[in-house]
Amino acid sequence: MQLKGKTALVTGGARRIGAALCEALAAEGCRVVIHYNRSAHPAAALAARLRRNGARAWTVPGDFRTGDYQTSRSADRVVRQAVAVAGRLDILVNNAAVFDKQRLLRSTAEAVRAEWEVNLLAPLMLMQAFARRFKRGRIINLLDCRITSHQPDAVPYILAKKSLADLTRLAALELAPGITVNGVAPGPVLAADAAGATRESAGPLPLKIRPTVQEVVKAALFLLKSDVITGQIIFVDSGRHLLG
Ligand SMILES: NC(=O)c1ccc[n+]([C@@H]2O[C@H](COP(=O)([O-])OP(=O)(O)OC[C@H]3O[C@@H](n4cnc5c(N)ncnc54)[C@H](OP(=O)(O)O)[C@@H]3O)[C@@H](O)[C@H]2O)c1
Repeated sequence: MQLKGKTALVTGGARRIGAALCEALAAEGCRVVIHYNRSAHPAAALAARLRRNGARAWTVPGDFRTGDYQTSRSADRVVRQAVAVAGRLDILVNNAAVFDKQRLLRSTAEAVRAEWEVNLLAPLMLMQAFARRFKRGRIINLLDCRITSHQPDAVPYILAKKSLADLTRLAALELAPGITVNGVAPGPVLAADAAGATRESAGPLPLKIRPTVQEVVKAALFLLKSDVITGQIIFVDSGRHLLG
């Protein structure tokens, strides 16, 4: 698929990997809808920067952590608002996520529910809202290279991302032939930016190079441009997923 002239919705697009995806899509000639939750100012600043560079860009707000199982409404509202400002959508990038380190014995039901709402339920409902409105398009889900591991340090997060990987393949079949659904599974690209956090250790990497945001973006663009790849997951992790 030619990206030029297409319209993309990127969730959590105001900062970090999401912002890099928005910038790259705009550079390819896409019109970009930047979804944000708390980052209203960074989202507006990014949209203004993209517009200064000649792209069409809009922002839409939305909290997927509703606490009352209203994530489907929230997701539908985000897609509806995106269509209202941009006219249509061709691409959905499910990038928004939360990452809390919780081991099994410390995982509360509340923590599990919160992680699942943002990291699994929201992408599912967004895919549904997208596919109900558009018969053709592209979906990318941001996963995590740890979907192949059994690391015990972030149990609710990893479970949600493992499920999103399965959902990626399920949706690829369900939404064919018009919509492709693929995943990008980054390794340790950016440290979680909690206040005062220093760069986290990248852990063992077979290729001994820390993967970059730009490599994640390249994989997403490759998948978006393909007409014949669906249900595929590209690990951008210097081989870390092979270590289990
Ligand atoms: N960073 C890495 O090294 C790494 C490694 C493996 C996988 N990944 C995956 O790659 C993707 C991007 O990573 P990242 O580190 O750039 O992500 P991030 O900074 O942790 O989160 C991206 C965005 O998600 C949005 N978000 C969080 N809670 C939300 C909620 N309740 N409702 C709606 N949006 C919400 C936030 O938007 P606002 O700022 O507007 O609130 C945030 O900016 C994620 O899916 C992540 O799991 C990243």
